[in-house]
Amino acid sequence: MKVSFIGAGQVGATAAYMLASKDVVSEIVMVDIDDAVIGKALDMMCCSPLVPFESVITGSTDYSSIADSSLIVITAGLARKQGMTREDLLAKNSAIMSSIASSVKEHAPDAICIIVTNPLDVMTYLFLKKSGLAKQRVIGMAGVLDSARLRNFIAAELKVSPAKVEGMVMGAHGDSMVPLPELTLVDGKPITSLLDADAIARLVERTAKCGGEVVKYLKTGSAYYSPAASIIEMVTAILSDSSKMLPCSVFVSGEYGLFEMCMGLPVKLGKNGVAEIVELDLSAESSALLKASAEVTRANIVELGL
Ligand code: APR
Repeated sequence: MKVSFIGAGQVGATAAYMLASKDVVSEIVMVDIDDAVIGKALDMMCCSPLVPFESVITGSTDYSSIADSSLIVITAGLARKQGMTREDLLAKNSAIMSSIASSVKEHAPDAICIIVTNPLDVMTYLFLKKSGLAKQRVIGMAGVLDSARLRNFIAAELKVSPAKVEGMVMGAHGDSMVPLPELTLVDGKPITSLLDADAIARLVERTAKCGGEVVKYLKTGSAYYSPAASIIEMVTAILSDSSKMLPCSVFVSGEYGLFEMCMGLPVKLGKNGVAEIVELDLSAESSALLKASAEVTRANIVELGL
């Protein structure tokens, strides 16, 4: 089993290291335009007797090294700096993503690809269109991260174990994300029965702005531990063929009334990628928010001329 990471910066390298620590794949390849990736791989391999793990990690600047990957995680591109929105990244990262799509098509056309580069939903759509991969095999990572942020804040507010909090954040990755309080559960109980509306609104607001809050303190980059952990959640669901329902950005063909874009929706992940897009019964308010969120993504798609 081989998993490749294209882009071995903060997010990609952290996720590669987390995957190695789990010791569930034989081969991990990191590809980057910066040959620092070779040093990172060497540094990680020297952890193998300590962690310990048997996965073999290599770093390369050559895209052909992704050949025969079952799974490819794409984090290449610029990260958001202070004062930038994810949309500011649109032009630069779309050029990078287009060239990576051609390389994946050439060297690993059968891989399942997890897209992480922002702005997430439009990059996932761009990659799908340019690579020609099947729609089930191109999946954006955002909802798992947004849900994890919400779950963390709820656990802290209610002073419960984070593992007891289940959450679901749909919609585009950005300020228009759509948290679903009615489907956010603590020990099976919806948070609407445990917290008042003001408290929920405050935690939801902090969730939507959490990426920016991290950027403010990091100054030179954006969040990476929690994005990396979110990638691993998806990689594990796919490699173990778990059918676990996770919010991911996927291509829509009429689900939730949406067409011809990638949008954050609940999906079941398995060995072939997206096994099913789950159609939940949304409240009128959540449906309206999802529609508005889709309009933000549509504007980005139009701006790119896709
Ligand atoms: N091919 C491979 N690697 C590339 C390419 C390319 N064409 N272009 C850039 N890179 C690499 C850079 O050399 C760098 O190592 O992508 C890496 C990006 O790493 P960071 O700058 O540390 O950014 P990171 O924090 O990892 O975020 C990456 O994920 O969460 C998103 O918004 C974030 O879009 C950003 C992406």
